Amino acid sequence: MIQCSDDVFESVMELARRRGFIWPTSECYGAVAGFIDYGPLGAMMKRRVENIWRDFYIVQEGYYEIECPTIAQEAVFIASGHVRGFSDKMCQCPHCREYLRADHVAEGGNIKNASVMKNEELAAAITSCTCPACEETLGDVEVFNFNLMFSTTIGPGSQRVGYLRPETAQGMFVDFSRLLRFYRDKLPFGAVQIGKSYRNEISPRQGMIRLREFTQAEAEIFVHPLEKNHHPSFRRYKEYRMPLLTYIQQQRCEEPLELSMQEAVDKGIIANEYVAYYVALTHQLLVTIGIRPERLRFRQHLPDERAHYATDCWDAEVFSPRFGWVETVGIADRTDYDLRAHAAQSGTPMTVFIQYNEPKKTIRRRIIPNMSVLGKQYRTKAKAVFAALEAAVPTAEGADIEVGDEKIHIPSHLFEIRDEVIDTRGEDIVPHVIEPSYGIDRMCYAVLEQAYDEDTADGEKRTVMRLSPQVAPVQVAVFPLMTRDGLDTIADDITRAFHKNGILAEYDDSGAIGRRYRRQDEIGTPFAVTVDYDTKEDHTVTVRDRDTMEQVRVPIAELTGTVRALVEGQITFASLKSKI
Ligand code: GAP
Repeated sequence: MIQCSDDVFESVMELARRRGFIWPTSECYGAVAGFIDYGPLGAMMKRRVENIWRDFYIVQEGYYEIECPTIAQEAVFIASGHVRGFSDKMCQCPHCREYLRADHVAEGGNIKNASVMKNEELAAAITSCTCPACEETLGDVEVFNFNLMFSTTIGPGSQRVGYLRPETAQGMFVDFSRLLRFYRDKLPFGAVQIGKSYRNEISPRQGMIRLREFTQAEAEIFVHPLEKNHHPSFRRYKEYRMPLLTYIQQQRCEEPLELSMQEAVDKGIIANEYVAYYVALTHQLLVTIGIRPERLRFRQHLPDERAHYATDCWDAEVFSPRFGWVETVGIADRTDYDLRAHAAQSGTPMTVFIQYNEPKKTIRRRIIPNMSVLGKQYRTKAKAVFAALEAAVPTAEGADIEVGDEKIHIPSHLFEIRDEVIDTRGEDIVPHVIEPSYGIDRMCYAVLEQAYDEDTADGEKRTVMRLSPQVAPVQVAVFPLMTRDGLDTIADDITRAFHKNGILAEYDDSGAIGRRYRRQDEIGTPFAVTVDYDTKEDHTVTVRDRDTMEQVRVPIAELTGTVRALVEGQITFASLKSKI
């Protein structure tokens, strides 16, 4: 059971600021809420998290990355629905004038289902809630919709409206035709994008959880609508088990169900193999970056919470003692909604031609007009009448057509209906889209929060960031015991050897060795190498493990290979120790 006393938010943020992970942006002018800077260590850690994500989606799934502008023209967001509907419910505190998210105020006051209430209903519900800024009782307030997109104009003096993208996804939808050609006109295929998204959040008070500029990593996987239950690699995860908080469990206030992905699909709990596959992959990815499984759950959207076009949606939620369960990744079956919307707005068809294995014999009904009679009767309009007739649905009495504003009845003796058998090679279909959407900043916050720990070393309090070696910014520290007798030169050579092998090593020769360990423990460096006087004799060094503080001696000749294997998780420190 996780206790609220586990709340390490203040300590993590203090360490993050002091040691260069995260700090407020443009502090010298007074920081602006909803924006943060990643410092030297934070930027490196974030890059490592992003690269693990890339490894899963680009290397292992084979979905290539694209990079679209962060500003797009208005038409894109009219089609996507963001111009019309991408808004949050806002109210203003009558006492301190602070703008507030009305649904969050309601949730703070334990009012259920606030996110699905109408504005008037929500306004009535929150009258007795307290303002989170000034703590006065709100009283009567108006609740209205506030669009979260940042708008701009494109070009000097231009009237052309543009928006900063609120998600990376739209770039991949509007590039559909080019991507289809790149993937040689075959389904399924996917594209991924990682980059900044912008939302003018009303009241971002939750550190890295709610930002106005944040990094998303999204995949759009285009599949045949009838093939969603046939993921080509489903066997990779069919036995993968995890707790699933289904919408029924939530409605009944029950505990999550522990199921394999195969069971979840067979029981109809997860809509299809594609969604189940990315639920499991997301679980594995989040555990890889250092999220503890007991602080991770997958929650299905309730029917009234789900976007109207989505058939199924699961959120990966990470528990934070400060913020509760935080949505960190969303995995949705978005059906054909986005492609149809962009096709309608742009006039560009967004379909895939699916060729049948064998051509299908189909009957095509043709309506052949009696040209000589109708030609004379309609003269200049005859061409339009023939065209309308061909598209008409005739009855025994004849066909009713429209030419311009004129409604015309053509009696049945003036045309012939002919059924022709034709070979059809295939059909045009609009693919469905499965979308796993990751919030990189929320992932980074969860990693930092869960890594923070305090214990005792040599009788003193030790602060240690137990970061997974795969995301730790500095991968190994190198210390000469003394800065004389050639120990510093050996340590310097070892550091350079690490660098040449792509391992980020930090050389440190200042202060007592214990202090140097403490400095590295605090930034999560998983391993430290010490060069001592024995090194000169036997060409070995000590390698110290951050978490256990145990040490082993490793020959310098094997050092880079050993540290690489430790950092990449191919071996554990315990296995290294038992081998020696
Ligand atoms: N294309 C789908 C989409 O954008 P979303 O649930 O709105 O879905 C996906 O966003 C993820 O982006 C979220 O799960 C969250 O991790 C992250 N995210 C959304 N808004 C955010 C914000 N204001 N600050 C930080 N991360 C945010």
